[in-house]
Amino acid sequence: GNLVGLVGWRGMVGSVLMDRMVAEGDFDHIEPIFFSTSNAGGKAPAQAKQHTQLQDANDIAALAQCDIVITCQGGDYTKEVFPKLRAAGWQGHWIDAASSLRMESDAVIVLDPVNDELIKQSLANGGKNWIGGNCTNSILLMGLGGLFKAGLVEWVSSMTYQAASGGGANHMRELLKGMGVVHAAVADELATPASAILEIDRKVAKTIREDVPTEFFGAPLAGGLIPWIDVQLPNGQSKEEWKGQAEVNKILGTEATIPVDGLCVRIGAMRCHSLALTLKLKKDLPLEEIEAIIKGGNPWVKFVENDRAVTVKELTPAAITGGLEVGVGRVRKLNMGPEYLSAFVIGDQLLWGAAEPLRRMLRILLA
Ligand code: HSE
Repeated sequence: GNLVGLVGWRGMVGSVLMDRMVAEGDFDHIEPIFFSTSNAGGKAPAQAKQHTQLQDANDIAALAQCDIVITCQGGDYTKEVFPKLRAAGWQGHWIDAASSLRMESDAVIVLDPVNDELIKQSLANGGKNWIGGNCTNSILLMGLGGLFKAGLVEWVSSMTYQAASGGGANHMRELLKGMGVVHAAVADELATPASAILEIDRKVAKTIREDVPTEFFGAPLAGGLIPWIDVQLPNGQSKEEWKGQAEVNKILGTEATIPVDGLCVRIGAMRCHSLALTLKLKKDLPLEEIEAIIKGGNPWVKFVENDRAVTVKELTPAAITGGLEVGVGRVRKLNMGPEYLSAFVIGDQLLWGAAEPLRRMLRILLA
């Protein structure tokens, strides 16, 4: 059947998902039922055909009519509703952006350009739970999946530069407000070319310490960075850092764990996550061969030659934001030895990092 329940379609990730579903004609293939946690009985969006009223997202019986449920409502909703729905005997497919179910043994982390075989295998074995990966890991694997699939990666050190959107809509707003506060503090001096830059800097430093809003990030991000994302684990990793190895290996379905570790840092970009990577390869391959394997990873890899002019034009948030291409560049051999490779990977956190793998999973189920 193709009765598809949509939950959390109004939020930021949900809105990106809706836009992509419209752009790809996904609604031509489904009968959507739109759910709401706050406005049941209200009017469903224009994509609704027969079910023009919003249904209650906490109504298990209403959800249980669906052949497929896609949710971007968040982890608390998943934890609350999913167990009840399964306990009620629901046999449908659950596609989820939240992390709650990601590491369950009966869940597949979906990123089909990288793990379509794992998805097909699990589908054949009766798999029903399809969870989107952590944005940073999905972007890493969209960029360098070719090297992983070829079995060439011994380990990865992953240093991230993560955008405000990873925190949510409020976090993006807070970043922009902070930028405005910083600028406003020195607008007059900036308009005067003769003003002293160190005087401006003193004012800016004070403003960042005292006046930039920190309600959502917990520390000033505008004009700075935050070298911690998500909660602290007993071993000293952040949870975001822990996800690297756990999820990359689960997505790939590796038998021997590939070590993935590094530091995750929040920076003042809007919605592009970047990663500066050191990879130890299992063998010394010529650079041209390595590049060809990366380029062949999937059709969305935008390989950027390791050249200054091209890199600063093409391998930046300004160039990548809002699109499906995942930039891969700064690829070169490092001084540490011929098996050590650097790479910089950048992608839109809301597209491949969140919404796109979900709608592609939907299409796989409908095929
Ligand atoms: N945890 C990620 C971040 C986003 O904060 O950037 C969700 O995958």
